Amino acid sequence: MTEIILRRPDDWHVHLRDDAMLAAVLPFTARQFGRAIVMPNLAEPVTTPALAADYRHRILQALPDGKEYEHFEPLMTCYLTDETDAGQIEKGYTDSVFAAAKLYPANVTTNSTNGVTDITSLEPVFAKMQEMGMPLLLHGEVTDPEVDIFDREAVYIEHVLSQLIKEFPQLKIVMEHVTTKDAVEFVRAHRDQMAATITAHHLIINRSDIFEGGITPHRYCLPIAKREVHRLALREAVTSGDSCFFLGTDTAPHPVSDKEAACGCAGIFTAVNALELYTQVFEEENALDNLEGFAALHGPAFYGMDTNEGAVTLVKKDWRVPGTIAVPDGSSVRPFRAGRTLNWKMKD
Ligand code: DOR
Ligand code: ZN
Repeated sequence: MTEIILRRPDDWHVHLRDDAMLAAVLPFTARQFGRAIVMPNLAEPVTTPALAADYRHRILQALPDGKEYEHFEPLMTCYLTDETDAGQIEKGYTDSVFAAAKLYPANVTTNSTNGVTDITSLEPVFAKMQEMGMPLLLHGEVTDPEVDIFDREAVYIEHVLSQLIKEFPQLKIVMEHVTTKDAVEFVRAHRDQMAATITAHHLIINRSDIFEGGITPHRYCLPIAKREVHRLALREAVTSGDSCFFLGTDTAPHPVSDKEAACGCAGIFTAVNALELYTQVFEEENALDNLEGFAALHGPAFYGMDTNEGAVTLVKKDWRVPGTIAVPDGSSVRPFRAGRTLNWKMKD
């Protein structure tokens, strides 16, 4: 096969940031995807409908003119805290400002200090979301420093998520960026109410790759990549055609200087080459026929939205991923697989 035409896909998990970084990274996501679920973990988190509406406006202002971007629609999310009010959630959702709400356990990752310390404080919020059919997006890791970093997702499933779905059996839940066989099995077992996004990078690297030839901060993200057995389980899940798995890149740009540091930030930047990376994985697994479902159909079905009208074309063609992308404030950001050759390219 030398050319693939797909219904235009969506990215169900994106960090677009703000200001100069937003201007630098947005065109990459907007060029490839119809819609994107925009994460709310800004320095000042997006906790209210008013903040979300303002952020949405800034995103649309930052969108360059041009036919290749005009289809793009940002879908906003609410950052949950211990203080989130069910009334605000209801208003944000019924006014179509919020498409979903995101739960970060406090201190689990970048800009999560205002996250949730006590999940029981959110019971009225979950009850309202369940009633309205509003999806809850979970960063599913425990934060207990006693729990090994590679076990934090599995322990979250066992101790937190299992309880949550018992209490709210109709709450729609997306477990974001799953990284383990345990998560794949759990989501499948609760498919009547659950789905999961899977990143391109977790399909490509395992935990040894973070240390290949020396420590490689550009392969560090949270949840951290796991053992090979888990990577293989993720590849099976996405390529199987199973509708409870869909595309969410978790593209998470940080300036190179914040990554290549004594305390480097978590986050892998894949907006530049997201579709090409996924396509390569599906080709390697002889499953190109299932790419469109994963990239363009399963997500809208779970969220209760229409699929996109347009299409994208990928052509079999070698190209080199740029080493860095300039940010207008003088910093730069490094794409995943920078300097390497990929063998599929999205046509402009
Ligand atoms: O690696 C990550 N980076 N994981 C997250 O959950 C957040 C993200 C970010 O915002 O940089
Ligand atoms: Zn994320």
